[in-house]
Amino acid sequence: MRLTPQEREMLSGGDGRAAKKCMEILVALGEIYGAKRLVPVSSVQVSGVSYKNLGEAGIEFLSELALDGKARVKTTLNPAGMDLTNWRAQGIGSDFAERQLEVIDAYRRLGIEITCTCTPYLAGNEPGLGDHIAWGESSAVVYANSVLGARTNREGGPSALAASLTGRTPLYGYHLDENRVATHVVDVSAGLGSAEDFAAMGYFVGKMVRDGLPYFRGIKGATLEESKELSAALASSGGVAMFHMEGVTPEAKVAPRRAETVSFGALDLVEVTAGLSDTGDPDFVSVGCPHCSLAEVATIARLLAGRRVTREFWICCSREVKRESDEKGYSRVVEASGAKFACDTCMVVAPIEGRFRVVATNSAKAVHYMRNNGLRARFLTLEGCVSEATRRI
Ligand code: F3S
Repeated sequence: MRLTPQEREMLSGGDGRAAKKCMEILVALGEIYGAKRLVPVSSVQVSGVSYKNLGEAGIEFLSELALDGKARVKTTLNPAGMDLTNWRAQGIGSDFAERQLEVIDAYRRLGIEITCTCTPYLAGNEPGLGDHIAWGESSAVVYANSVLGARTNREGGPSALAASLTGRTPLYGYHLDENRVATHVVDVSAGLGSAEDFAAMGYFVGKMVRDGLPYFRGIKGATLEESKELSAALASSGGVAMFHMEGVTPEAKVAPRRAETVSFGALDLVEVTAGLSDTGDPDFVSVGCPHCSLAEVATIARLLAGRRVTREFWICCSREVKRESDEKGYSRVVEASGAKFACDTCMVVAPIEGRFRVVATNSAKAVHYMRNNGLRARFLTLEGCVSEATRRI
């Protein structure tokens, strides 16, 4: 791989031990994937933040890098294992909290913004069209490639961190025009009336195309919330990193002529939606996977006004969206109902095992991961989740 003099300097250790280690990771990755060179990145989003996933080995790795490493570009974090300030109200134990705060402290010493969210694009980390970036959270990767028109591969925790501490990533995969061409055409005849319908479609299509690149034909656009849910679902049932949709994807000019075709009709929508629900009465309701937008919080506040929740109800969002919700008066209404904001975290990365049996959620991705964690799930609309959370027991 061709390196610039500055990159060679980093690789030789002249820029410190952390930069050397990171450059070794990037060069090894570039060689595996046949990258000819590295490319500067303007934004990084690091996954691997919850102590539940990182453990002691993760703390050790981060602390070593933090001895002399520093972020060189704007870098934000994926959700942690708890709300960083309100963790006691979430039922998190103090042993876990202590270790989680140590992880966060290591990231802070690395110069990374402690914005723990899977929707960095709603919290001030919003790259533009054509920008090369290195993001880790799979739903945000799909959103960045498909809606923002930025360019990123699905980075792992170490490779995203290495990009942050060097300002570079190997030039391969979704950074190159030739890999941003649709591999499948999805003919959509189902009527999609909500973000949950987009999620169900994404879950179906992700399974069909696996790590392909679907072009959705028959849809003329999608809202931010619909694109967010679609992105998350495509990346959870499959390994999708990008989709094309007219009116949404800057690169979606015309449907490709030589691509495999998949159909998504009304019956498919009914079947996949039903398949995302198990039996059982929910004892936990959680929305915001990916993290809620301000518009979603506004809807929840409107639906909760004057009502009380009858079971644990989490609204997962970034601290930025929570701050905006405070200003608009939504938080007061939500909290008066007994519902809880879960900032910096979510129902999947928080250590909630053993506390609940059945979760109600409006996210296909959350259903997928909650089932993997041994819980049963009910897939409802946002309105359905609020009804469930306030239903008399
Ligand atoms: Fe975000 Fe957690 Fe879902 S990180 S995409 S809310 S699994």
